[in-house]
Amino acid sequence: MTDITRLPSWHALDAYRDKTDFCLNGLFAHDPDRFRKFSITLPGLLADFSKNIITEESRDLLLSLAEEAGLEQARDDFFGGEKINLSENRSALHMALRAPPQAAMIVDGRDVSFAVQKTLINMRFFANAVRSGEWRGYGGRQITDIVNIGIGGSSLGPQLATEALSGSHHPRLACHYVANVDAADLGRVLKKLSPETTLFIISSKTFTTAETMQNARIARTWLLSHYRNDKKAVAAHFAAASTNAEAVRDFGIAPENIFPFQDWVGGRYSLWSSIGLSTMLMIGPDNFFKFLSGAHAMDEHFRSAPFRDNLPVMMALMGVWYRNFMNYPAYAVIPYHAVLRRLPAYLQQLDMESNGKSVTRDGVAVSVKTGPLVFGEPGTDAQHSFFQWLHQGSDIVPVDFIAALKTTYDTPAQRNMLLANLLAQSEALMTGRKNAAEPHRDFAGNRPSTTIILDEISPRSIGMLLALYEHKIFVQGVLWGINSFDQWGVELGKTLAVALGDEIENEAPGKHDSSTLGLLNHIIGASVCQLQRGRL
Ligand code: F6P
Repeated sequence: MTDITRLPSWHALDAYRDKTDFCLNGLFAHDPDRFRKFSITLPGLLADFSKNIITEESRDLLLSLAEEAGLEQARDDFFGGEKINLSENRSALHMALRAPPQAAMIVDGRDVSFAVQKTLINMRFFANAVRSGEWRGYGGRQITDIVNIGIGGSSLGPQLATEALSGSHHPRLACHYVANVDAADLGRVLKKLSPETTLFIISSKTFTTAETMQNARIARTWLLSHYRNDKKAVAAHFAAASTNAEAVRDFGIAPENIFPFQDWVGGRYSLWSSIGLSTMLMIGPDNFFKFLSGAHAMDEHFRSAPFRDNLPVMMALMGVWYRNFMNYPAYAVIPYHAVLRRLPAYLQQLDMESNGKSVTRDGVAVSVKTGPLVFGEPGTDAQHSFFQWLHQGSDIVPVDFIAALKTTYDTPAQRNMLLANLLAQSEALMTGRKNAAEPHRDFAGNRPSTTIILDEISPRSIGMLLALYEHKIFVQGVLWGINSFDQWGVELGKTLAVALGDEIENEAPGKHDSSTLGLLNHIIGASVCQLQRGRL
């Protein structure tokens, strides 16, 4: 694999950065056509890159870099179902989950579209039965509450999509997402619910994740204690989305309530699989299919548009420019909609678990900085928390502003105020303001941002938006030479937690550094005291 820093365009970009004064105000003053030149419009959305520190020359060099890095071949391998996830010897073909039924999607020489469609049909059947009220709990009552028990990709994606599309929710149903192993997460949800009207969906690719299995067992006990331990109740109140059918059956979930998917779907890319069942239940199968088709439209764009007009490619290249040539460590995602509240958290996993790597696909240390820190909160809330730092702090952090022209809840006055705030922030970050007399009122400006405006918040547009980020992250992984589809970095902590759990349980600290040992003794001591006082 070629080291990206040895490519001719890398050197040219380095030199270009050193000799160019990137003043955004100046670039706009010299080129009245800048907005048109640096924005991309697709059916349903507009992305404006013009407030980024980019010129036509640097764009051309970045496009050459993508070509020299073999992006075209990598994209073909990705869509062709090649085993690009080398460390797990798997394909990464989540695009197959949202392809039209007739499209052939090949993994290991076999067309997987039949299996995908079969699960979708079963999900639709199940969702329609629950939504219509035909599906009853064990005591004969209709379901009113869905509890999705899952963590990481088995929670963040469905939760984001469900909240984003809350305008389409079934009026009788509410959905709750439980991820944390902290008893408070499940406890605060269960205390509001009735076992007779609750449906649990255990969402776990592996069906072994400690937090999820612990919560699933507690939920099952809660249900069974209501039904005098009659195990038949589980079939009416539990369903699962998983690749591990055997473990799901062992847990006691009825085979007809298991919605499978395959190991070529990565956890953080699994929202489009049966992991999206809670979303489908809430918004209905038809809307869920529109959501899939929005993502598919982005797949087709990414697959076919020339790199220059290719939204994921251009977003990725801007990110590489900032990370590797401008040395910016982070980017912020600010959705100007409360319903997109979970977008930053979702993107944190998507981006940081995919590209937070220090070893290349060949297993040697990377020679460049890889995935940035991602953070964010909805605007306008964020304007009253960390925007001070974005405007006047000593680091420069590019921002992705995301908005929609039409949503479910707002009035024209609210919408106008919201969008005005977004524009004000991106303009202020870029133009700044000089105030020599009062330096504390001085805004340096020249702080970059990208603005994405969706025509509306709809299943299709949200599907497009999420697939856009997925492909952006893929492109960056290719350029940095890393495997964006494994996540070995979460393993060590998991292993240590098991051993430490036993040590706490048995009040028998093992061999540790003095900090861990001190904390362990403190926890064990506190547990003993609380036990003596009858509090645990
Ligand atoms: O954080 C590690 C991880 O494997 C994620 O990639 C995944 O989304 C999450 O744990 C949950 O895994 P599972 O769906 O197997 O329970």
